[in-house]
Amino acid sequence: MNTTTHAYKILLATHPALRKKSDPVDSVDHTIKTLMMDMTKIMVDHEGVGLAAPQIGVHKRVLTMDIRHVHTEKPNMFCMANPEIIWRSETQSVAKEYCFSVPEIGVQVTRPEEVKIRYIDEHNTEREIHATGILARCAQHEMDHLDGIVTLDYLSPLRRKLALKKLQRMEKYQEGDAEPTGDDVTL
Ligand code: NI
Repeated sequence: MNTTTHAYKILLATHPALRKKSDPVDSVDHTIKTLMMDMTKIMVDHEGVGLAAPQIGVHKRVLTMDIRHVHTEKPNMFCMANPEIIWRSETQSVAKEYCFSVPEIGVQVTRPEEVKIRYIDEHNTEREIHATGILARCAQHEMDHLDGIVTLDYLSPLRRKLALKKLQRMEKYQEGDAEPTGDDVTL
């Protein structure tokens, strides 16, 4: 991971960028549309279901989702700017979530099972969707990122501490400035 062909790098949850609240966009202009297209490419290249702009260090309220593997029916690819939840079901569901910024650490998260989302799409058109299943879960996960929230925040303090340590080690190796040494052995 020392070199990358992308201009963007997906940041780990230990990076301060993942903790900052993102700003709304004024409109989906050329710059934001380019960001959406770049994010879609990164997400698809990494075979991810969703990506939020702060994960690549951009603090704009923009997210992308790709649920083509579960929904062949369109729409199944989404680019959203300024997404907001305008209704949530009382029924909740629990599932283990994985995140590009929290590699290898699945976290059980309880969320409303269905949500209605208002957002601006890649054509600068305001839209609303009633999201269920993986789409509802993914959208809520990505919207958490826009508020500086990561899956680790749903863990107990002890498990969060252990997970953070694991991420810090990953971060160190990714930097490429530290090869595993005797000091890095976990006991
Ligand atoms: Ni994530």
